[in-house]
Amino acid sequence: MSGSGKKPQHVLGIDIGGSGIKAAPVDIETGDFLEDRRRFATPESGDPESIIEIASKLRRHFSWKGPIGCAYPGVVRDGRTLTAANLSPEWVGMKAETALSKTLDQPVTLINDADAAGLAEVRIGAAADVSGVVMMVTLGTGIGTAMFVDGKLVPNTELGHLRIEGVEAEDLASSRAKNDLDLGWRDWSEQITIYLRELERLFWPDLFVIGGGISKNFEKFGPRLDVTTPVVRALMQNRAGIIGAALAAAEHR
Ligand code: BGC
Repeated sequence: MSGSGKKPQHVLGIDIGGSGIKAAPVDIETGDFLEDRRRFATPESGDPESIIEIASKLRRHFSWKGPIGCAYPGVVRDGRTLTAANLSPEWVGMKAETALSKTLDQPVTLINDADAAGLAEVRIGAAADVSGVVMMVTLGTGIGTAMFVDGKLVPNTELGHLRIEGVEAEDLASSRAKNDLDLGWRDWSEQITIYLRELERLFWPDLFVIGGGISKNFEKFGPRLDVTTPVVRALMQNRAGIIGAALAAAEHR
């Protein structure tokens, strides 16, 4: 926690992922966790009821009262979840922000998970104070993207679903694809390079920030990425979704 005189604002961040649902109370000035992160496995069904129940369990675990930010792995607009690539289709079209606020009995702000991760990096992480076009790319079960123009988020970019020679990028270059296709670091780096080059060709970003849990092994693939745009490793790694969700809730208020 920051020792500065200014009273830090605290928000509970929850990150719903394809494999785990994680939470921690966050100091939004520093991004520090006020207590150890808690994680539960995402149920196989991926349905709203079970996942919202786990989010509620996490709130109770921290005895949390106050604002909550929640990151969701799909498109979120006006509190509705509009896609569910790696969860149950029951989420599609649902007023999930209202449902979460009701069950958790606290005000919940919902944001796409990659947008959350990007927010964390752009506000207090690897892209803090970077102007121009910053593209966050999270490599996990899917590929999440977040685009910022001079620090302002362009929400729900969904460029993990960009097709390259007919194949969705997340089936080519996510960390799930690395496992599914049994790719070593070198071959996987080549796949990510193909993907990042396509993003370069279309968006001409000033900086790529690479996140997702696997970014902890950045030294194994980062230096092999053969693109002209500077590429940096996310600073928050797998904490970014939680921190960014908390920041989104704080900024929303
Ligand atoms: C979803 C995105 C999400 C990403 C990472 C993709 O399949 O469509 O919304 O950000 O996975 O979870």
